[in-house]
Amino acid sequence: MFFTRSLAVLSGMLLVLGSCQNGPNNNNPVPDSREQKWWKEAIVYQIYPRSFKDSDGDGIGDLKGIISKLDYIKSLGVTAVWLNPIYSSPNDDNGYDISDYRNIMQEFGTMADFDALLKGLHERNIKLVMDLVVNHSSDEHEWFKQSRSSRTSKYRNYYHWWDAERGKPNYRYSLFDVNHDAWKYDSLTNSYYLHYFSRKQPDLNWENPELRKEVYAIMKFWADKGIDGFRLDAFGFAAKDTSFPAFPKGYEKDFMKYYSMVPGIHDYLKEMHREVFSKYDVMSVAEGAGSSFEDAHNLVDASRKELHMAYAFEGVDIAKAGGYSLQHFKQVYSKWDSAFSKAGWLSIFLANHDQARMVSRFGNDSPEFRDLSSKMLTTFIMTMRGTPYYYNGDELAMTNAGFTRIEDYRDMPTLNEYQHQLANKGDIPAFLKRIQFECRDNGRTPFQWDASLNAGFSTGTPWLQVNKNYTTINQAAQEKDVNSVLNYFRKAVALRKNNPVLVYGKYTIRDKDNPAVYAYTREWQGKIFLVMLNFTAKPATVQTGVDMRKAQLLLNNYATPAVTGNLRPYEAVVYQL
Ligand code: NOJ
Repeated sequence: MFFTRSLAVLSGMLLVLGSCQNGPNNNNPVPDSREQKWWKEAIVYQIYPRSFKDSDGDGIGDLKGIISKLDYIKSLGVTAVWLNPIYSSPNDDNGYDISDYRNIMQEFGTMADFDALLKGLHERNIKLVMDLVVNHSSDEHEWFKQSRSSRTSKYRNYYHWWDAERGKPNYRYSLFDVNHDAWKYDSLTNSYYLHYFSRKQPDLNWENPELRKEVYAIMKFWADKGIDGFRLDAFGFAAKDTSFPAFPKGYEKDFMKYYSMVPGIHDYLKEMHREVFSKYDVMSVAEGAGSSFEDAHNLVDASRKELHMAYAFEGVDIAKAGGYSLQHFKQVYSKWDSAFSKAGWLSIFLANHDQARMVSRFGNDSPEFRDLSSKMLTTFIMTMRGTPYYYNGDELAMTNAGFTRIEDYRDMPTLNEYQHQLANKGDIPAFLKRIQFECRDNGRTPFQWDASLNAGFSTGTPWLQVNKNYTTINQAAQEKDVNSVLNYFRKAVALRKNNPVLVYGKYTIRDKDNPAVYAYTREWQGKIFLVMLNFTAKPATVQTGVDMRKAQLLLNNYATPAVTGNLRPYEAVVYQL
């Protein structure tokens, strides 16, 4: 149960992307959600570097590999790339445990490779958003090594320590620890340190101004290199009540309530804005959006000068192993849209590196419907308000890994939870079944470039097995097919890029109670677009009540023309009215 929650919450944590000088003009009556900004118009392609392309045969994707695919990335039409962490790291959590924020992970290459990558992206008019992981560092970071060396170290207060003479600190739940205990005893100084994630990811102490100064200097180091944004990993957890009071028994079932958006967080974000964001044309996106609209607005209402964009998890979190209800899906996305219709800005996504594959989870990955349902979901992402974040491989309709043995998995929290289950005599078959659907490795299998050995990802042994379906699902094959998922993705991206109504337009849900179809209009500056999406494997009808007499079909995921009012299985259509 903890494990399931951990992943859901992980996916639901505070993630905020970068910032630009978009300070509000208080005399300006235009709601900030309608002010035009490059980061609202951006289409972000998320690259998981470890699994994208290996250039040197060690089985691990790298920066040179990404560089070799820049023309492919450009061909997608996307305008920004979000890279998961590429900094030096012992890789307890695949780079989310950073040991040197100013260097590149050895397996990924060198700083010269990074500079070449940034240049290559910018030459192609693609922006770069970096992951900023500063709720915690690696325990192999020099700060932590110094911090743990003595109670009087200058770095002691960079982290949260509790002297053992005071007794055991009040219980704190760890998302990733084998025992879910976030306090780790360290005999060297007879103290406990705090780690909300793994033992190798000690939490940084944001109350310490010295630490905060170091973080802003790191951010400036990267901003000075010319990067275009930051995604703030788990930042909602950064502020803590450092008296560490007792929380009610069982609080871990709802730990976000206790861990996220603790008072102090907005002071840190305002300071970060002052020190960094206000000085560069960079965007900021939070991982998560807190637990309420109020939380989300407090993060990204432009007038507050904190972050630019929220990344709410409520939508992705509704898909469970048993499926999800379209009514619920519509209700959640409509609700979040309304929250941002006046102030702030949001992200739209259905997958990332912490989630199972989009088509397996929200669509239908059977051979019959995989392509259609994937195209339908892409249409959803590209036609909603909010900046689209599209996860690499989804443009091919890559599917879940389908692993059946624990030996096939590499994800640290999954392996830790397996140990936990063994130690506590858990139901192992049930556990294996659950992770087959929800483990993060599902979204991390190597990118399927072609039908050659290892899907063209690596000449060595891939760090995580390639999905067996790579001989049929791969980029090379889809390039040749005008009707492929890949070529549909390009069309959907182009449609969004050429039509700001899809970015800024007012959203109105149509035929709201239709159990099979999600239909909505987007309206802006006299243009009206109608989107109709059949989320089921059966034909469906829809009554939107809009005047279709002048309707012009702009996008359809079937090769033969759509018939008004009727939708074929997983059909997606976009009309201009
Ligand atoms: C959220 C990241 O997306 C996830 O991959 C990571 O494990 C945790 N934060 C901890 O940094």
